[in-house]
Amino acid sequence: MARMRRRGFLLRSSVVLGSGCLVAPNTRAAVAPAVLRKPVAPVVVASANGHAGCVARAFEEIVAGKAVVDAVVSGVTLVEDDPNDHSVGLGGLPNEDGEVELDASVMDGPSGLAGAVASIRRIKNPSRVALAVLRYTDHVLLVGAGANAFAKAHGFPEQELLTPEAREIWLHWRATMSDTDDWLPKTGKDVPENVKQYFGITGTINCCGVDAKGDLGGVTTTSGLAFKLAGRVGDSPIPGAGLFVDNAVGAAGSTGRGEANLVTAGSHTVVEFMRAGKHPKDACLAACRRIAESTRAPRLLRADGRPDFNVSYYAVDKRGRYGGAALYDGGEFAVCDAKGPRKESLVGLFAR
Ligand code: GLY
Repeated sequence: MARMRRRGFLLRSSVVLGSGCLVAPNTRAAVAPAVLRKPVAPVVVASANGHAGCVARAFEEIVAGKAVVDAVVSGVTLVEDDPNDHSVGLGGLPNEDGEVELDASVMDGPSGLAGAVASIRRIKNPSRVALAVLRYTDHVLLVGAGANAFAKAHGFPEQELLTPEAREIWLHWRATMSDTDDWLPKTGKDVPENVKQYFGITGTINCCGVDAKGDLGGVTTTSGLAFKLAGRVGDSPIPGAGLFVDNAVGAAGSTGRGEANLVTAGSHTVVEFMRAGKHPKDACLAACRRIAESTRAPRLLRADGRPDFNVSYYAVDKRGRYGGAALYDGGEFAVCDAKGPRKESLVGLFAR
């Protein structure tokens, strides 16, 4: 059986190599149901932290002919590499033990394939490892030590990801969380606002795009919830939750409270609303409404009965329309098309 399976793999691989494609041909690309009558105007959307370079790079690479999934991973790599962005990759905020644990997923519309890693450590580009899972394994999701071993096998360098600034933020959190433990704050109990802003946040970048053929791709990468329990995995590496791409319809991803997105399969919900005919903006808003309706645990609700957290969605459809929405207004997202990179407002389900 194992030999048969391996032989089948080699046969498929030889077709792949012979055709010059990077992904296996026995995929939905061959039976894509949607036929576009005219070329699409390419567009890339991302969470607001994709404004500084990410969306522009992804858009340029899409226009130059790169597969959308490669282009968006190339874009988010800029943010993963940035030690000053505490939401992802190098400089990401650590778990409660001071260890940076990263999650990421990618989805390739033409092939219908996904790759993901969760709780990977000491590798600054989990999005690239997720892409390698998509390309070079028959699996979708690798976690923890297995994800690290796979990354090592593929030559991803290991390094310390906890930057001095992220360590200081974590130490402030660690030393001020209890009056009865043995950790004493270095600088008094008053946590500076520029540090406090990171307490309890879920930093993430999502980036999705569509090319002139109407082919779609997406990536979501994160250091997850700041100071999470070791091993906590959010929505970002879970296809359907933090990212979902259907090449016949559209691509969507999210940032914010991953737990809410996991229990509502949020990004899949956005794509399904687009499939039903909604504009990407309205599909994102409808997924926000789904979260608001399904959040019932009192500890997750404000006094007015609304969620006490935020989730944002970003989406593009096969026709090149795009939009974004959040539970609470006031946020922005990044866009790049032929008019260049810019930020636009997220539509809010509720006033902040
Ligand atoms: N949305 C990122 C996370 O919850 O991990």
